[in-house]
Amino acid sequence: MSITEQQVSDIVNLTIDQTITLNGFSFRSPPLTLSGEGSTLRVGESLSALGVHKAFIVADAVVAELGLLDSTRRSLHRSGISYSIFDDIVAEPTAGLVQRCKDQLKTCGADAVIGIGGGSALDTAKAVALLIDSNASIADLAAGAQAERKVRLVAIPTTAGTGSEVTDITVIMEDDHRHKYVIKSAHLMPDLAILDAHLMIGVPPAVTAATGIDALTHAIEAYLSSQRNPISEAMAFASIQMIVRALPIAVGNGSNQKARSDMALAAYKAGLAFSNAGLGLVHAMSHQIGARYRIPHGVANAILLPEVMNFNALVCRSELANIARAMGVARDNMTEREQASAAIGATAELVKDVGLPDSLAKFDVKPEDLNVLADDALADICLVTNPRHASSADIVAIYQACLEKQ
Ligand SMILES: NC(=O)c1ccc[n+]([C@@H]2O[C@H](COP(=O)([O-])OP(=O)(O)OC[C@H]3O[C@@H](n4cnc5c(N)ncnc54)[C@H](O)[C@@H]3O)[C@@H](O)[C@H]2O)c1
Ligand SMILES: [Fe+2]
Repeated sequence: MSITEQQVSDIVNLTIDQTITLNGFSFRSPPLTLSGEGSTLRVGESLSALGVHKAFIVADAVVAELGLLDSTRRSLHRSGISYSIFDDIVAEPTAGLVQRCKDQLKTCGADAVIGIGGGSALDTAKAVALLIDSNASIADLAAGAQAERKVRLVAIPTTAGTGSEVTDITVIMEDDHRHKYVIKSAHLMPDLAILDAHLMIGVPPAVTAATGIDALTHAIEAYLSSQRNPISEAMAFASIQMIVRALPIAVGNGSNQKARSDMALAAYKAGLAFSNAGLGLVHAMSHQIGARYRIPHGVANAILLPEVMNFNALVCRSELANIARAMGVARDNMTEREQASAAIGATAELVKDVGLPDSLAKFDVKPEDLNVLADDALADICLVTNPRHASSADIVAIYQACLEKQ
């Protein structure tokens, strides 16, 4: 069978078009963000404009106790939006908790879900908003099942860390605490993100430190990601610049409004960066130890981050030198290698300064667990965008190094 001139031309054009598309990138973010002190007071009018009549608030138990839902409730009331509240969220949510939350949402029949709290509350809110009109389970979604969100979704963070308010990701733990499911879907991107740093003033120093280092890890992993693009790169760089300056102040003086709002913005930028560029080996490894030994997410990242930067340095020295510039530790008379080392050293120092551990020694991790942990890390979605190929032996060696530090 002979091929016509038109068919040849179509094939050539298709190849060229595909190459052009491959060199481009897409960037996803919430359609609307409201920022500034008191911005939660505008949630009612924003949801009214979207035709919402009834909201379901998914809140962290501590946050509810502290009265941090009050402004949102007043705003909903003023806009004539009725609401019910599920405020049973505790740190690091499980599939069982998501199911309980979904059952309550089903009973109340809301057309919007509002998450208020740290990443744990926001991720639960995102998961139930996606699952309410689907028969899929969390495990199904993690295995690639598709679900379409039909209710509106609002995310109001009360910690400056996960950036979940601007990511298309939810992280939910298996009930037996052996595994964290990382689910990614365009339907998980909130319709509205509200950034009110005032809600973060009372976060205790240890949580401020852990969540802040989580944000720094997002920014650094996104900056080094093999799928980075010019926008994610700019967001990640700016986030690193802000965190190294604002985090020590937010930890040491939690009532400093400027430090709190800088951290809120830095976590938001890091969230946008990694949601669009992906993460890396730190997260692939920290999900495993976080789940099995119940190490808070930010603490697990803090322990692993300098070691993984050191491992990745072989393939991204110039990017690490740029990170040293963002951190203010690069000098003109340094070689690129020295600048990369300065970035790793400054990261380790920051972890120490804000009082987080740099070792796995005091946790219940046993040397005989390391092979299983490494195999699970190899299967984690976050590994896909790590700049350096990591083998099982490499991962075991990194865990081992963290375990041997005293
Ligand atoms: N969806 C994403 O993109 C994403 C990214 C990274 C991590 N995560 C996940 O997010 C979860 C961690 O979230 P997190 O680090 O924000 O912690 P968290 O939500 O578990 O909260 C940590 C602690 O801080 C308390 N808290 C929250 N806000 C407070 C406030 N304003 N004042 C006083 N106490 C407050 C909580 O009650 C809790 O005890 C993990 O499950 C992690 O895997 C999700
Ligand atoms: Fe994280």
